[in-house]
Amino acid sequence: MKFRTRAIHVGNEKDPETGAVVPPVHFSSTFVQPGAGEWGEFDYSRSGNPTRQNLEQTLASLEGGTGALAFASGMAATHCVTMLLKAGDHLLAGTDIYGGTYRLLQHVVGPSGVDVSLANSTQLDTLEQAFKPNTRLLWIETPGNPLMSITDITACAELAHRHGAWLAVDNTFATPALTRPLAAGADLVMHSATKYLGGHSDLLAGALVAGSEELHGQLYYLQNACGAVLSPLESFLLSRGLKTLELRVHEQCKTAQQLAEWLSGDARVKRVLYPGLPNHPGHALAKNQMQGGFGAMLTFEIDGDLAKTKRVAEATQLFQLAVSLGAVESLIEQPATMSHASYDASDRAAHGITDSLIRLSVGLEDVADLRADLDQALNA
Ligand SMILES: Cc1ncc(COP(=O)(O)O)c(C=O)c1O
Repeated sequence: MKFRTRAIHVGNEKDPETGAVVPPVHFSSTFVQPGAGEWGEFDYSRSGNPTRQNLEQTLASLEGGTGALAFASGMAATHCVTMLLKAGDHLLAGTDIYGGTYRLLQHVVGPSGVDVSLANSTQLDTLEQAFKPNTRLLWIETPGNPLMSITDITACAELAHRHGAWLAVDNTFATPALTRPLAAGADLVMHSATKYLGGHSDLLAGALVAGSEELHGQLYYLQNACGAVLSPLESFLLSRGLKTLELRVHEQCKTAQQLAEWLSGDARVKRVLYPGLPNHPGHALAKNQMQGGFGAMLTFEIDGDLAKTKRVAEATQLFQLAVSLGAVESLIEQPATMSHASYDASDRAAHGITDSLIRLSVGLEDVADLRADLDQALNA
């Protein structure tokens, strides 16, 4: 079955008892056992829940993995991956990553004894030099946040494996509608399912999809031991969102491409960072790695300081001033004061996250309305 068909049918089989086209939501926290010391398919909802399991089947199918796990948030999913490492192991991450991931790695995982370092994942020589004999995990995000850098997943998988490490890819921005990291050689995919997978700004969720039974088993053990599972209601909402994932993402990509082209010809804008523009340094790679569009996230820089940038970001009417992304509603934010405020100021500067950047999450509204909104805000 094709992607769009799987998004609707895998994990969403009709209820055999009632014929309901949408499987019922199972809220039960516990399940009757056949006998003392005997176990049925489900026993306790932290260890497994039918509604969550349906969702996990859809996620595994869409990413092409052997198994998926649904978490209470994207950060819970990322944290679970970091628990694969022990004190003394080295974790290497790209520099262009979500601010919350940076905070978790630098201020929680690092102090626990895991050696954490960052390197530019778009420069393979620099990245290779950052590997150490004890590197166990390479963590990348592509397109990167907030600079929309493109990292070569196949090359990173080859590098990681040559150094005896796993490659994990945060696929939140691209989604499996555009990029399948496991097919490109990654071992593991992570999602903030709060974003495109849910798609409607009404749930918080995370997901991991493993490329092997062994890794899935290790992660399942950690998830069950630590407990940050997704609730049945959120699992149901996420399953519903996934059915329209490809349609939404493809349409949002088209609008983002048009806005990026318009902004890049506007004198009030210093530069536009969007992989769909031919002058973007990752354009050729993105053309190869992303199918069906270049994503619906774009960042641009204005000619102005922190205060002026803040004024522009606050002046839009349709683009709402909020962190998060990936939903049908368009959002606008200032990375320096919002999504990337948890970066140390020196690291923000070193990684090119300037005060005059504005990040857009392009939704499903009409492109003409979105363009008019940005136009009036740039005059603010
Ligand atoms: C790329 C990326 N990864 C991870 C996360 C964390 O996910 P959550 O907010 O669902 O915990 C986010 C949240 O914004 C994100 O944008």
